[in-house]
Amino acid sequence: MQSALAPASPSAARIADLFWVSIVGFGAIWLAVVALALYAAHGRKYRFEHGHKLIVGAGAIFPTVVLTAYLSWGLAMIPPLLDPAPPGSLRISVKGEQWWWRVRYLPPDGPPVDLANEIRLPVGEPVEFLLESPDVIHSFWIPSLGGKMDMIPGRVTRISLTPTRTGTFRGACAEYCGASHALMNFAVVVLEREAFDRWLAKEAAPARTGPDARGQEIFLASGCGACHTVRGTAANGVIGPDLTHVGGRVSLGADILPNDAESFARWLRHTGQLKPEVHMPAYGMLPEDDLQALAAWLDALE
Ligand code: CUA
Repeated sequence: MQSALAPASPSAARIADLFWVSIVGFGAIWLAVVALALYAAHGRKYRFEHGHKLIVGAGAIFPTVVLTAYLSWGLAMIPPLLDPAPPGSLRISVKGEQWWWRVRYLPPDGPPVDLANEIRLPVGEPVEFLLESPDVIHSFWIPSLGGKMDMIPGRVTRISLTPTRTGTFRGACAEYCGASHALMNFAVVVLEREAFDRWLAKEAAPARTGPDARGQEIFLASGCGACHTVRGTAANGVIGPDLTHVGGRVSLGADILPNDAESFARWLRHTGQLKPEVHMPAYGMLPEDDLQALAAWLDALE
């Protein structure tokens, strides 16, 4: 679900209200103006004293009153959208990268947990996002959960929200940031507290690499570990996304592919076609057997 008109938090609901009031109110005014224009164009007898009243009333007083009320309402809406989450709330650091999301959970009572391109939240609890960018300006936006916030190199911007219902939502980058700007999305899964705790504990644990070691050997021998971390193996690169539990995520490649072994193989072979100008090189030179083994190993990293 990626719709600002299907709000799942109080701040998103405020923004949706603003939208509907604007559409209905200004739509009605537009219809009235069109009706008046048609009436005037059809050669009705023009009487100056009525025209004068119309211009003062509908041309000056009415817009002043309506726009002042609209502006006051809109401005009063901003401070609650920027309210920080109360102390002790869950904080999540998100960095916009070209073109994916680096996510680090900062739980109030435990060590940080790294992942990428996916955010899970406990329902009904406030959460604060600390937003940064190491390269260009991105913008963090989960339409169903709240307003958007720019991610600006050299600064930390913040946005807080409280999801009010469980479900899977979609987030996107809302600021043009290069060739693959439109391919920089993420899944947001809102869970009951218990399910959230189970998930975070799983994410914090090292990878479960399974009995088939061949995929892991190919991963390490191909140099993947220079850019990617898989906790529990020798791979500890920090340039690309953390892959420790990549097989357990909702989607792949910053929400552009389904999460299955076939998509891993496609991504490894056609990286630059799937995401133009991506920094990761394609691994099409790997023999088919090796590529399939690597894809199956990554898919099993749940
Ligand atoms: Cu990042 Cu657009």
